[in-house]
Amino acid sequence: MAKEFKRYMITTALPYANGPVHIGHLAGVYIPADIYVRYLRNRGREVMWVCGSDEHGVPITIKAMQEGVSPQTVVDKYHAIIKDAFARFGISFDIYSRTSNPTHHKTAADFFKHLHDKGVFIEKTSQQYYDEQVEQFLADRYITGTCPHCGNESAYGDQCERCGTSLNATDLVNPRSTLSGAAPVLRDTKHWFLPLDQLQPMLEKWILTEHKEWKTNVYGQCKSWLDQGLQPRAVSRDLNWGVPVPLPNADGKVLYVWFDAPIGYISATKELTPDWEKYWKDDDTRLIHFIGKDNIVFHCIIFPAMLHAHGGYILPDNVPANEFLNLEGDKISTSRNWAVWLHEYLDQFPGKEDVLRYVLTANMPETKDNDFTWKDFQTRNNSELVAILGNFVNRAMVLTHKHFGGIVPPIAQLTDYDQQTLAELPRLKAAIEENMEAFRFREALKEAMNIARLGNKYLTDTEPWKLQATDPQRVGTILHIALQITANIAVLTEPFLPFTAARISQMLNLPNTPWDNAGNANILPQGHTLSPAQLLFEKIDDSTIQAQLDRLQTIKEQNQRLAAKAAPEKPAISFDDFTRMDIRIGTVLEAEQVPKTQKLLKLKVDTGIDIRTLVSGIAEHFTPEELIGKQVPVLANLEPRKIKGIESHGMVLMAEDLTGELRLLQPNATMGSGSTVG
Ligand code: 2FM
Ligand code: ZN
Repeated sequence: MAKEFKRYMITTALPYANGPVHIGHLAGVYIPADIYVRYLRNRGREVMWVCGSDEHGVPITIKAMQEGVSPQTVVDKYHAIIKDAFARFGISFDIYSRTSNPTHHKTAADFFKHLHDKGVFIEKTSQQYYDEQVEQFLADRYITGTCPHCGNESAYGDQCERCGTSLNATDLVNPRSTLSGAAPVLRDTKHWFLPLDQLQPMLEKWILTEHKEWKTNVYGQCKSWLDQGLQPRAVSRDLNWGVPVPLPNADGKVLYVWFDAPIGYISATKELTPDWEKYWKDDDTRLIHFIGKDNIVFHCIIFPAMLHAHGGYILPDNVPANEFLNLEGDKISTSRNWAVWLHEYLDQFPGKEDVLRYVLTANMPETKDNDFTWKDFQTRNNSELVAILGNFVNRAMVLTHKHFGGIVPPIAQLTDYDQQTLAELPRLKAAIEENMEAFRFREALKEAMNIARLGNKYLTDTEPWKLQATDPQRVGTILHIALQITANIAVLTEPFLPFTAARISQMLNLPNTPWDNAGNANILPQGHTLSPAQLLFEKIDDSTIQAQLDRLQTIKEQNQRLAAKAAPEKPAISFDDFTRMDIRIGTVLEAEQVPKTQKLLKLKVDTGIDIRTLVSGIAEHFTPEELIGKQVPVLANLEPRKIKGIESHGMVLMAEDLTGELRLLQPNATMGSGSTVG
């Protein structure tokens, strides 16, 4: 029998304040947690949900360096953007804090000091990578190299983002400093290590024996780390940004960001209530961490090891980590700007918070990586939210206003079909609950939408619009049932679609209804007055979707340009070889497409020597009009040759960029045709 808990302590990964939040964060972490927490609250359970910005560590200092500002400026900027976007999107944290907060600095420092005084740490002088050019130790993301596990060439010094493995910088093959690009050298430095190897037996028993119910992806990753054997792990860094190590003679040392960040959950709880200990130290509290798969080792192994070593704290009961969401088939990436940013979405799609919530829940990467596409976003909006949910609620509301003046009609004789329909309500409610409790939010959403499907089918089958003249009482019964189904939708979709649920409740004039009062046909009393009907969703047209695809296409092209590599150098030639080329500035007099070809243009060029014909394979890059009158370098003494029956004498020289785009090379002032180039 599963343990009965008195209360829930929910945490969601603290996002780094080095960029805004995107759909990958939402689908992986914040939407599942928001659904779960809303569900628990609606059921009257005692819940605390904390989050905040992760403002320390190398991700922040690297961003500061890129933007040419201080780390404080970076975190202030992104903390504000992230906090505001979450709030506008209806993510219902009890607190959204930040790790630069003094309460957090003190809590994290005290935690470290407690472990230190208890003799938990191993103090070790070890060799760490150092960049001699910038005279700095290279922690974590200041160093990149090839992951020894999966071959990813841009793994970081603390973690490979491709395979999720937690690394030490010295594990990397071919390490490079991200500051100077130089190969780093090893130098002695003293740090404090958490002896994970000593804690391995306790972690093995706790995870592998006592938490077999964890999601397969989570359990599997933990098992694989444990099977490899845990190593002591440094929990301090040589950096000047972070929580200072609270010991004498520790200048220039701060706590490792992955040591301080999870303590941020505790600090945020402290900030919110003096009664914080019951959430962290009472066995009757169920601690659940919502995270993405790249955070599994930190939440399932390192943080629990810290809590256990400290003593007095509970350990997480579950860590329902999700896999990753891709965007249009490509990995979401902050640095490549390959993302749909939440704050931008909210500006571009006002009033459509629930559309994104719906699409991201329906595609949640619960068991494997998944893909977000704008086409799917449009289809799910138009064919599911508009056609199923919006359509049903609208029909029930409009018909009641039309035939009963907006008053819930009384119920008369129930047919077998009515009874069968009503019997579905408790069944669907139970199905939602079962899936919610098991963290299967996609399935739970499907069952919630099945209530609207049930309603649509009921109206389509009973056709009340045909009966008003002959049997108004029957119409009343049908609409009464349709309205009870609508009220069930208002209550049972709230965790997924809070904005929509609130609007339905407002239309129904429905006071706040506890979850447990749903699943039946007794939510709305007969004679109850409804508010006017409003449309819940509107269709999204092709041009809106195309605009988003065009934006992504532009980003893709920019990225290809940035990522393209120069071709290797050709074998050396002599100075004589070079001087044998006769390159002149020519002026294009005429240009036309060579008939029956795609790529060829026939040019008439004044080379100063003569006026000659050249055939050039540039028709896919330039129109004839773009070239006429332009001055271009021409290799004049190239042997003439016939192309498509036209004698071409010489070659127009152009620049080809790294992605294959051609550009004209033109003198920066007009020159006489025949001027030499060399
Ligand atoms: O991966 C990340 O974005 C981290 N900032 C998550 C930290 S979670 C917690 F430990 F605070
Ligand atoms: Zn890897």
